[in-house]
Amino acid sequence: MAYLLAIESSCDDTSAAVLNDDLLLSNMIAGQKVHEIYGGVVPELASRAHLQNIVPVVDTALKTAGIDKRQLEAIAFTRGPGLLGSLLVGVSFAKAMALSLDIPLVEVNHLQAHVLSHFLRTPQYSHAPKFPFLCLLVSGGHTQILQVNAPDNFKVLGGTIDDAAGECIDKAAKIMGLPYPGGPVIDKLAQAGDGQRFRIAKPRIPALNYSFSGLKTSFLYLVRDGLKKDPDFITRNLNHLCASVQQAVVDCLLEKLVAACRQTGIHQVAIAGGVSANSLLRGQLERQASLHGWEAFIPPFSFTTDNAAMVGIAGYFKLQQKAFCPMSAVPYARS
Ligand code: KG4
Ligand code: ZN
Repeated sequence: MAYLLAIESSCDDTSAAVLNDDLLLSNMIAGQKVHEIYGGVVPELASRAHLQNIVPVVDTALKTAGIDKRQLEAIAFTRGPGLLGSLLVGVSFAKAMALSLDIPLVEVNHLQAHVLSHFLRTPQYSHAPKFPFLCLLVSGGHTQILQVNAPDNFKVLGGTIDDAAGECIDKAAKIMGLPYPGGPVIDKLAQAGDGQRFRIAKPRIPALNYSFSGLKTSFLYLVRDGLKKDPDFITRNLNHLCASVQQAVVDCLLEKLVAACRQTGIHQVAIAGGVSANSLLRGQLERQASLHGWEAFIPPFSFTTDNAAMVGIAGYFKLQQKAFCPMSAVPYARS
C-alpha cells in the first residue's frame, strides 16, 4: 500500500491527484477560463495561472483523499510533452515538495498517461484492457493509434501528419464563432443536427496515418461559400454544421482504427484523450465493437481531458519498478 501524489500541468489545467496504489482517492482539476476570450491557450497566461492554482489544488487533493503529506511515498509529475512554461510550474513544484519530504520523484509522459488512464480504479469503476491492446489517442495536440504491449511498451502504428483531431474540431468551432475549447460545444450542438447535411471532403492518407488539415480547409470553404449566399448561414445551420464536421472527424478516426484491428488481429480496443469525451465517437466505437466482436474500453468522462489521476496511474506502474527520476530532470515540450 503506497500513497502517491500526482501533478499535471502540461497545458491549461492544473491538476493534482492522490492514489493508494492503483485506487484513486482524489482528482482535483482547476481549469483556466482566462483563455476563452482568445480562442485558444495563451502560454504565458497558462503558466501564471498554474502558479496561482498549484498550491490550493495540491492541498485540496490531499484533504479530499484524507491523508497528510507525510504519508506520501512518492510524487509523480508530467515531464512532457506540453507547453514548457506550464510544465515548469508542475515540475518545479514536484521537485520542491519531494525534496522537502525526502521522497522520490517519478516522471510521466503525458501521452502515455492518457492511455494508462484505463487502469485507474475507483470505488465505482474498474474496467482495464488486457495487454496487448490498441488505443486511439485523440486530444487537442495528438492523434495516434498505439499498440500497447505493456505499461512501458508502446508501439506507434500511425498518427496525424498535420493537425490533431481536437485541434481540427477547435478550429471548426472558431470558424463558426463558437468559444474555446470547441469540442464540447460542437458535441452538444451536434445532438440536434444532421451529420449528413453538409459534405466535407475527407482525406485519403496511406497506412494508419491521419490528416485533418484538408478537412478543416474544406469546412472553412463550406462556411465561406455559405456566407456569400446567406449572411445568416451559420446561425441558420449551426446544428447541422456541427454535426457534419463532427461526423467527418469521427468517420476518419474510426476508419483507421478498424484497419488497425484488422492488421494486428487485436480486439481489445480503447480510446483516450480529450476527444474521447465525444459522444459520437463513444457511440460509434461501441457500434464497431459489437459489429467486429471487439471489447471496447471507453474512459469515464473525468479521465478523458487532462487530469492528474492518469499521471498517478502511470506513476504507479513506474513506482512498482522503482523507476525513479533524478532531481536534475527538466521538462520537454515535444515527445
Ligand atoms: O487531452 P486534452 O484535455 O488536452 C490535450 O492534451 O490536448 O484534449 C483537449 C481537446 C480539445 O481539442 C477539446 O476541444 C477536445 O479535447 N474535446 C472534445 C470534447 N471534449 C473535449 N472534442 C470533441 N468532443 C468533446 N466532447
Ligand atoms: Zn492531454
